[in-house]
Amino acid sequence: MNLRRQEDQRYLLSESVVINKQRLLSDLNAISRIGLGDHGSVTRLVFSIKELRSRQLLIHLMTQAGLKVHVDRIGNIFGRLNGANPKAAAVLAGSHLDSVRQGGKFDGPVGVIGALEAVRTLKDNRVPLPCPVEVVCFVGEESSRFGFSTLGSSLLAGQVRMEDLANAVDAHGTKLEDVLASMGVYRDNLPSLRRDPNSVKAYLELHIEQGPVLEAKKKKIGIVTAIAAPTRLRVIFTGQADHSGTTPMEMRKDALVAAAQLITYIEELCSKYSAMEKGRVVGTVGAMKIEPGVINAIPGKAELSVDIRSISGEAKARVARLVQSRAREIAATRNITVEILPIRSEEPVALDESLLPLIKEICEGKRVPYEIMPSGAGHDAMQMAKITRAGMIFVPSKKGISHSPLEWTDPEEICLGAQILLETMVRVAYEQS
Ligand code: GLV
Ligand code: MN
Ligand code: MN
Repeated sequence: MNLRRQEDQRYLLSESVVINKQRLLSDLNAISRIGLGDHGSVTRLVFSIKELRSRQLLIHLMTQAGLKVHVDRIGNIFGRLNGANPKAAAVLAGSHLDSVRQGGKFDGPVGVIGALEAVRTLKDNRVPLPCPVEVVCFVGEESSRFGFSTLGSSLLAGQVRMEDLANAVDAHGTKLEDVLASMGVYRDNLPSLRRDPNSVKAYLELHIEQGPVLEAKKKKIGIVTAIAAPTRLRVIFTGQADHSGTTPMEMRKDALVAAAQLITYIEELCSKYSAMEKGRVVGTVGAMKIEPGVINAIPGKAELSVDIRSISGEAKARVARLVQSRAREIAATRNITVEILPIRSEEPVALDESLLPLIKEICEGKRVPYEIMPSGAGHDAMQMAKITRAGMIFVPSKKGISHSPLEWTDPEEICLGAQILLETMVRVAYEQS
């Protein structure tokens, strides 16, 4: 890095290159109107028409901004601004636009539109950059439809084998592997979706906290140390559907009551683990399918989704083992069967240690109160961390609520997060490799 560039960088970091708040907030609003439902909820499930429309709008915004747009075979979008050396490894920043069912407006889009605004600002101000910067929108970060999270970033990072997709099925029975096949993605060409790690200098993700810590501690920014990873299972109890009026209680094989016992067990077990200082584990049954699902028949089949998460891989594995053995025990006692289908089990991820002090320094320079913290929620950064240095910047969530229409972050805090993202991108771009 020569002196002039160093000067440029200082000049940039001190003042004058500031994001356009109004443009950022208005684009964020435009995205959130796609899939808007009751009570201000947003539903853009992966590969739905709404989610596709949100990606189309992003392509439009990137094109309008003069970025070079590339869309890969499964729909990951990249908007690139070249620097002095177009062949140098790029600094990537982004997140996702898909949502949970009836979620909020900010989970994902804040990171995508925040990165877009950062890059547009760099371009508008003709900020000299030594290497390219890229805005990225990953497809299918949320697991709400198929139980499979961070799909796009996992494929990009070469973290998916076809057998990992085998048990990923949506509520209508559509298989994720069939959806991928319809886009021309098969076992043989999975590796072609990978990104060459040498083409990426670092990955940065701005995201809402989705938890209560920043608000409670009156901090404006969270700097993330590590991301908790999920272990996910589909558990299917099969008993016997029968007449609800004629079958005596002691002769029933009720699959739903077995499921209820397992749900209660997961709550009790994880409540114990959740209270632990180290090795904290949380567990959730968030979806269930009952057959035949009518008032006058004993449930013959109950299928549950189990989501176990922790920053400690060891503690998570222990809880997952206990849940599975309890499921088998319940089935044996009730003389019914149980099938346990692993969806995906991932290791918790530590984020890059050199990016953290850099973001910290930027916050301190701006006198912005920050918190250094882990993330309980999953993010694309956990896949990107497998191929490059990855860092995350959190902005506060009101009352810590997320995956809900009540999800809210103060617009000023979103803008501050985007500004800090911009400054981090420039600092990383100028770092010597
Ligand atoms: C992503 O939002 C997750 O489920 O953690
Ligand atoms: Mn989410
Ligand atoms: Mn998210």
